[in-house]
Amino acid sequence: MNDLLEKYKETRKETERICKTLLVEDYNLQAAFFVSPAKWHLGHTSWFFEQFVLKEASSNYEEFCPKYSFIFNSYYQTFGEKIVRNKRGLLSRPIVEKVFEYRKYIDQQIQELLEKSISEEFQKTIYLGIQHEQQHQELLLTDIKFNFYQNPLKPAFDSTFQRIFAKNKTKQKWVKIPEGLYTIGHQKDSFCYDNELGVHQVFLQEFEISNQYVTNREYLEFMEDGGYEDFRLWLDEGWNWVTKNQLESPLYWEKTKGNWKQFTLSGEKNLDLDSILCHVSFYEANAFANWKKMRLPTEFEWEIASDTFEWGERWEWTNSAYLPYPNFKVSADAKGEYNGKFMSNQMVLRGSSCVTSKGHSRKTYRNFFHPEESWQFSGIRLVK
Ligand SMILES: [Fe+2]
Repeated sequence: MNDLLEKYKETRKETERICKTLLVEDYNLQAAFFVSPAKWHLGHTSWFFEQFVLKEASSNYEEFCPKYSFIFNSYYQTFGEKIVRNKRGLLSRPIVEKVFEYRKYIDQQIQELLEKSISEEFQKTIYLGIQHEQQHQELLLTDIKFNFYQNPLKPAFDSTFQRIFAKNKTKQKWVKIPEGLYTIGHQKDSFCYDNELGVHQVFLQEFEISNQYVTNREYLEFMEDGGYEDFRLWLDEGWNWVTKNQLESPLYWEKTKGNWKQFTLSGEKNLDLDSILCHVSFYEANAFANWKKMRLPTEFEWEIASDTFEWGERWEWTNSAYLPYPNFKVSADAKGEYNGKFMSNQMVLRGSSCVTSKGHSRKTYRNFFHPEESWQFSGIRLVK
């Protein structure tokens, strides 16, 4: 139980550490419906513990503010009405200070609960809340980046943040994986999300996968070869997305006086050609692979091959739709809304990124986003 409390405290502290360089004006920015203000992330992660643990654990539990459930509920229909997603940035109240007070209140209540003896079920839910908060730690950074990018002054969030410039560490080679029957899914006793369960077998044809990520240099070659102008490289929806938005480069790339720049968490920088490519959508990843006359791995190929290469710098787009594994079970309570209801029109990404929280990655992890989304730290690995 003490280990759980320690893990809880460490995670909550880390969320607040991430926000250390934010100024009060920064906390409420919401530049698009798909990003959330930092203040909202701080409140929502606390609400999760309040709703899923504290209210369930005691009928006498007194909420910090009963109205908070409406503003900090993300997508849980089980808990009733909630603020529309794109209006989170309009929450000038509660003020930032109040949200930090809310966090303290929740921390105090969770600590008291964990100092008593609580059921294994509650312990598991607290652990889920910790994992949930770690997911939001990454979202905080991806959302801050997108929000700061809208400011023409291109402010730096953290001038020490350099991991976006990471390079492939080993020489390029193709790893051959023989055809055969392989087991997919989380097979250990440790924590995983429900969408990783339902261990099952898949048959894979022989394939070769790159031990490296695609770099900025390679992607620039694709651009300079007319990659964004050739409809034959794109899926139809991808081509519509490119033409509608008049896209010519990945998110955060801008050409100034003939030089490519990239916006980073440490401000605007020259594009580093040898760095690992970041912030591409599935459509872009797929078009690039077509241009190379190769393809993206399926999520199963990725999982089986993942011990043969280094990963963890970019979420890697796979060619797999986000679907339930055989025997996938949806929990009957609100926890059933965590993953399962999103299994339509999204693609799976595997691995983790340079802004994923420490310890929050494993080779069976299934991340998922819509094919046009690119504000996550997403990249490409090829298969031939
Ligand atoms: Fe959430």
